[in-house]
Order: sequence, then C-alpha cells, then structure tokens
Amino acid sequence: MWNRVQETVKFLKDKGFVNSEYGIVLGTGLGNLTQIIDIEQSIPYTEIPNFPTSTVQGHSGNLIYGTLSGKKVVALQGRFHYYEGWSMQELTFPIRVFKFLGIENLIVSNASGGVNPKFKVGDVMVITDHINMMNEHPLRGANDERFGVRFVDMHEPYNLQMISQFKAIAKEHKINLQEGVYLALQGPTFETPAEYIMVKAMGADTVGMSTVPEVIVAKHMNMNCLGISIITDLGLEGQAESVSHEAVQLAAKTAEKDVMLMVKEFVSEI
Ligand code: HPA
Repeated sequence: MWNRVQETVKFLKDKGFVNSEYGIVLGTGLGNLTQIIDIEQSIPYTEIPNFPTSTVQGHSGNLIYGTLSGKKVVALQGRFHYYEGWSMQELTFPIRVFKFLGIENLIVSNASGGVNPKFKVGDVMVITDHINMMNEHPLRGANDERFGVRFVDMHEPYNLQMISQFKAIAKEHKINLQEGVYLALQGPTFETPAEYIMVKAMGADTVGMSTVPEVIVAKHMNMNCLGISIITDLGLEGQAESVSHEAVQLAAKTAEKDVMLMVKEFVSEI
C-alpha cells in the first residue's frame, strides 16, 4: 500500500497537484461542485496509476485539481463504494493519496435516508458523528505506522471547529442546516422498514452507504474531516415509502445549490 500511494502521489505531483489545502469527495448529486472550482487539471481515474474506477451511474470518475475560493483543492468526482465490489483498502486509497499530497482537511458529502422525524427530504445535515455498521473495517489487517497508529482515537471524528464554522455559514445565509449522526451500512439495498427502525434505535439520524470508511482512513492519518449529508428520502416508522436511485439523485439536486454555496464559503474562510 505504501509504495502504491507514493507512486500515485509522485504521478500527481508531476502533473502539478501541489499545495492543496482541501481534499473533497463529491458524493451523490454534488458532482456539480466542479462548476465552481477553477479547474486546472481533470484526470480520468483510469489514467491514474493504482486508482480504482467508478461504475455507478451518476458518478463520473475524474480527479480534479483547481482553485476554490482562492484555495487549491483536489476533488474526487465520483466516489468508490464498498457495494461496487472494491475492497475497503481500494476504496479509501484516494484518501491516502490526499494525505501524501500534503492535504490535511477532508470534506466529504453524501446522500442519506433520514430517520429523524424532524428531517425533511432536501434537508442538509452536517455530520457530527458516525456509527460504523459496515461489515468490514478499512483498517483491518497489518498496520503500517507510516500512515498512522494501530488503535485510532475517534473521539472527534468530525472536526468540531469545522462543524461550528459550517453552522455559522448556514446561519449567515439563512440556510436551514440539520446536524446529526450518520450510520453506514454496506448497501446496495435501501433499508427495510425494520432496518430503518434499527438505525434510529442505534442512535443515528441518517443512514447511507458511504463516507465512514473514508473518514476512518482520514482519521488514521490525523486529517480534519467535515461531513455533509443531503437527506434524500425518509425512513420513518410506520410510513414506509419507496425509494430509488433516481429519486435520491433528484432530491439531492434540490439541496445542491445550498451545499455548494456553503462549501465555497467554508473553504474561503479558513
Ligand atoms: N439508505 C441508504 N443509503 C441512502 C439512502 C437510504 O435511505 N438514501 C440515500 N442514500
């Protein structure tokens, strides 16, 4: 893993991926953040040594380097999901690469199903904590100390200062921002009514199929993480509703403008 990360980092540095302050994972419906990034480089994953290649519809696969709000950023346009068949090591590989490109701050976005009755479809939630219910841990196996310690401290998975800054931005722009706990299941099935009840009983506000592996690997390397989730459907007890990939994409679209604005402001401030 170490050698593969260094090889990819060298390839990208040679292409000019230098001095970046933020790594951004553009989740479902948020690919358009690229519209406000002044793009200097966009390299298809297929052309990057050791990179996995994304297959799910709605996810194009490019690694982007450019300027957002005056800061250099690297963005994953199209993320890797466990349900696609990637191993945990493969799907979190780009996060390792971010770190060794010199990036200390990670911004991740996703779509999720809300189980908190106060939530509405189209709400944006800043993730304050997560529950890892995926069936495989991304740090399982021999630990390479060059990346981080064996037993990773997770007392602050999402950076508290980043969270309060993001909340302040929402307030300033009169955007209704929810906050809460994201629980990750492996997917690709959406939850059954009983599973939504389980998710809520476990203490989560939303459920999704991503983000947690990336954040765990980022924390392994001591990065600061900001997580943003768009509530694209609701799994409320006794109110089972049908949900589809298309409905998720559509609902994410409605919140996209607000998320883009907040991320743009967020990056400009630090
Ligand atoms: N469950 C899991 N993943 C999701 C959901 C959901 O309800 N909505 C969007 N992504």
